[in-house]
Amino acid sequence: MKTTNYMDSLIQSVKKFTESKDSPPLAHVHNFGCQLNFSDGEKIKGILMKLGYGFTETYDNADIIIFNTCAVRESAEEKAFGVIGSVKRYKEKKPDLIIGLCGCMAVQEHVVERVKKSFPFIDIVFGTSAIDELPKLLLDVFNGKKHVFDTSEYNKPLSEQMEVVRDSSFKASVPIMYGCNNFCTYCIVPYVRGRERSRNHEAIIAEIKGLVSDGYKEIMLLGQNVNSYGNDLANGISFSELLRRLNEIDGEFVIRFMSSHPKDASFELIDTIIQCEKVAKHLHLPVQSGSNEILKAMNRKYTIEKYLEIVDYARQQVPDFSFTTDVIVGFPNETEEQFNETLEILKRVKYDNIYSFIYSKRSGTRAALFEDNVNYEEKSRRMQTLLALQREISIEGYKRFIGRTMTVLVDDECKNAEGWIHGKSNEFIIVEFKGPKELVGQFVKVKIIGSKNWAVIGEIID
Ligand code: SAM
Ligand code: SF4
Ligand code: F3S
Repeated sequence: MKTTNYMDSLIQSVKKFTESKDSPPLAHVHNFGCQLNFSDGEKIKGILMKLGYGFTETYDNADIIIFNTCAVRESAEEKAFGVIGSVKRYKEKKPDLIIGLCGCMAVQEHVVERVKKSFPFIDIVFGTSAIDELPKLLLDVFNGKKHVFDTSEYNKPLSEQMEVVRDSSFKASVPIMYGCNNFCTYCIVPYVRGRERSRNHEAIIAEIKGLVSDGYKEIMLLGQNVNSYGNDLANGISFSELLRRLNEIDGEFVIRFMSSHPKDASFELIDTIIQCEKVAKHLHLPVQSGSNEILKAMNRKYTIEKYLEIVDYARQQVPDFSFTTDVIVGFPNETEEQFNETLEILKRVKYDNIYSFIYSKRSGTRAALFEDNVNYEEKSRRMQTLLALQREISIEGYKRFIGRTMTVLVDDECKNAEGWIHGKSNEFIIVEFKGPKELVGQFVKVKIIGSKNWAVIGEIID
C-alpha cells in the first residue's frame, strides 16, 4: 500500500473516533534514557499529532501508550519492564488501548523474546530506526492484527520531513547525527542504534534558524559523538565548522552539544567554543576511566595524556573552562590502583559535575565475555568513594563563581522554595535565585552570592 493511502486510512480512522467520542484519541509517550531518546519521543508525538491524536500526561485516559526505552544498563531495562507491567491493568479495563514498546530495548533479541513470553498485551514493538514506520504498524493494529513487530535494524537516517511536538517552548534538542561506530567494549549503543549517519548541514542550519525565529533560547545539538559529525559525509562540513555557521544565526540564544568523544576532541574544537559567543563555554567530555589499561580494555581509543592535553589547552585560554564527564566504576577486573587513577583524574580536571555508573554487563558486547573478579559490593564501595570525592570537588569548585555575574536561562520554579526559580548558566551550572515564575524561558543576569554542592545561589541584577 502506498504511504499516502495508509496515512489517509489512518487519519480517517482517527477522525471517526474523534467524531464518535467528541474528542480525539489521546496518546501518552513515556521516554526513558538519554536526550536522544527524548528527542525521538518528540518525533513519535509529531507522527501521532499528524494522525489526529491529542496528548495526555496520565495512563488512565490514554488510548495509546508508547514506552520509548533505554538499554544502556540492566537497571534501565528492568525499570522499563516494571513500568510496562504496571499498565496491564489499564488494558484489562480498556481492551482497545494500544500499547507500544520502542527505543533501544526494542531491537534486542532477548527483549523481543521476553515481550512475546511475558508481556503479550504489548501490541506494537518497533526499533530505533523504525519510528517513521509507526503509522503502518498502527494501521495493522487497527485492522485487527495482533503483535505487530518491526525490530529490524535499518541503519537509515530518519526522514527530514518528520514533524516534531516539542516538550519545551524555549529549549530545543536537535539531533545532528545518529548511531555510533566506536564499539566501546561495554556499550550496547552501536548494536541498537546502528552506524554513524550525519544529517545534511543545510537541513540542520535551516531547522535551527526556524527554532530561533520561533523564540527558542537554547539549542542542544545531539549525537552519541557530536564531534565525529561529518566524518561519514563525502561533501560535508566538520563539527567545528557547523558550530561556526550556527553561531552566525541572528538572535539571542545559546548553543550546547552532547556528547563529545575525546578521541575526536581537537584544539580546533576548543578554539571554536572559545571564539563563538553563542556556544556555551562548557564541554561534556566522557573520560570513563583514569587508567590507560582500562581505557584500552574499553576500546576508547585515547590515552589519559591525550585527554589532559585537551583540558589543559582549554584551561590555558579560559582558566575556568567548565568540564563535565561520564565515569564507569568497576569495569571487569578494575584494580584498586586503576580505580585510584580515576580518582586522580577527578582531582586533576576538577569537573563541575560527573555522571557516574557502576559497570553493567550487556549481552552481545565484548566486555560481557570478560571474566570479572571484582564483586558488586566492592564496585558499590568504589562508587561511594567516587561520589564523595566529586562532592568535595564541586563544593570547592563552585566557590569560584561567588561575586561573579552569570547569564542564566531560567528553567522552572524551585519545587521546595516558594518564590525561588532556577536555571542553567552558560557553563551548565544550576543557579538558584529569588524571582517571579514569569521569567521561565528568559535569560537573566544573576550575581552569585553563595554555593552548595549541586548549585550556586544568586540574586537577579536589575
Ligand atoms: N557516546 C557517549 C560517549 O561515548 O561518551 C556516551 C553515551 S552512553 C549512552 C552514556 C554513558 O553511559 C557512557 O558515557 C557510559 O559512561 C555509560 N555506559 C554505557 N554503557 C554502560 C555499561 N554497560 N555500564 C555502565 N555504564 C555504561
Ligand atoms: Fe557507547 Fe562508546 Fe559509542 Fe559512546 S562512543 S555510544 S560509549 S560505543
Ligand atoms: Fe539508552 Fe539508547 Fe540513549 S541505550 S542511553 S536510550 S542511546
